[in-house]
Amino acid sequence: MPTLPAQHPWNAHDTAHSALVSAYRGERPSRQPVWFMRQAGRSLPEYRQLREGTTMLDSCLRPDMAAEITLQPVRRHDVDAAIFFSDIVIPMRLAGIEVEIHPGRGPVLERAIRSEEDIIALENSDPDAFEEALAPIREAVALTVAELGTTPLIGFCGAPFTVASYLVEGGPSREYLYTKSLMFSRPDLWGRLASWVADRSGRFLRAQVEAGASAVQLFDSWAGGLSLEDYLGYVQQYSAAVFDHIRELPIPRVHFGVNTSELLVAMRDAGATVMGVDHRLPLDEASRRLGGGTPLQGNLDPAMLFASEQARAEAVRIVLERGRSAPGHVFNLGHGVPKEADPLVLTELVSLVHELGVQA
Ligand code: CP3
Repeated sequence: MPTLPAQHPWNAHDTAHSALVSAYRGERPSRQPVWFMRQAGRSLPEYRQLREGTTMLDSCLRPDMAAEITLQPVRRHDVDAAIFFSDIVIPMRLAGIEVEIHPGRGPVLERAIRSEEDIIALENSDPDAFEEALAPIREAVALTVAELGTTPLIGFCGAPFTVASYLVEGGPSREYLYTKSLMFSRPDLWGRLASWVADRSGRFLRAQVEAGASAVQLFDSWAGGLSLEDYLGYVQQYSAAVFDHIRELPIPRVHFGVNTSELLVAMRDAGATVMGVDHRLPLDEASRRLGGGTPLQGNLDPAMLFASEQARAEAVRIVLERGRSAPGHVFNLGHGVPKEADPLVLTELVSLVHELGVQA
């Protein structure tokens, strides 16, 4: 198996044996690892202050800023991993697509991408120019891991269905009507678009790994809008193509979606080594569906951050207990930290997970 360079944190800081990576490998480390999706961002006052006057996507492309924002929750909460501060639409922006994040809404395009001409234009864009445009990403990751030391950095990207849904709809969507219509009526065109997105997202992911990430997570947040049959027929192969960009490297590959209880096995079979589970499915049932051999990540309901301390502690205990039915378990929320969350509650939650995680 090809290895990572000597200076990569995997070797230089032995992140290969961190609590996070051990649990991702199916082991039971002495410290129960925990991190949160969207741990960086608007729940933190230091983030809101730093971001003032800079747009979301611009802040992702300023290496010093992206590194600092990535580190903020690690310093504050004592989580067992950092997740690189960026966005699933950053590769699209770097490929020349005009996209902005509208606060409270999400990614919005200047012009939706739906026609054959639109897709041909994407196919004609230069992959070498794209690799060069990834320079600020590599630089931000390098700055981040230099500060993180033994704490692993998780790299990520969006899966083709979720990213393409923003491109085809032109913005956030509930029903994915234009995306599904392209899929069902022009499967050839859909396949070309999904392949192109998989290539650029895969290169973005690989750049993060080469620059120092010790695990990756593929977000197919909106795949839960698909039936299992349609996922298998139109989506799985393109998510597998993203994983292909890093498949030969020894690092863990997490795959996560919302409302994807019926797709868990198919998503694992796209090439994940760990499954992220949202809060709708108990972890013991998730493990059973996966045949008992797949390490899991998840899955406290984010709403528990707003519940009483007592209700939250009981829910944490149950998640940890059910997580023991899988070969390895990394504690997380069932989806991202809401912007209204109290950062003090998050810090206390981390310490509770560490405390309860070693009992048992
Ligand atoms: O801490 C982390 O988890 C790392 C950073 C991260 C961001 N986006 C930063 C961000 C990650 C992993 C993402 C991935 C992402 N982006 C996903 C998949 C994960 C998920 O939430 O399901 C999706 C669907 C997107 C697209 C997107 N970007 C949405 C829906 C939004 C929210 C819009 C809003 O205002 O509610 C964004 C913006 C975004 N990405 C923010 C952050 C911190 C908030 C923007 C801000 O601070 O102004």
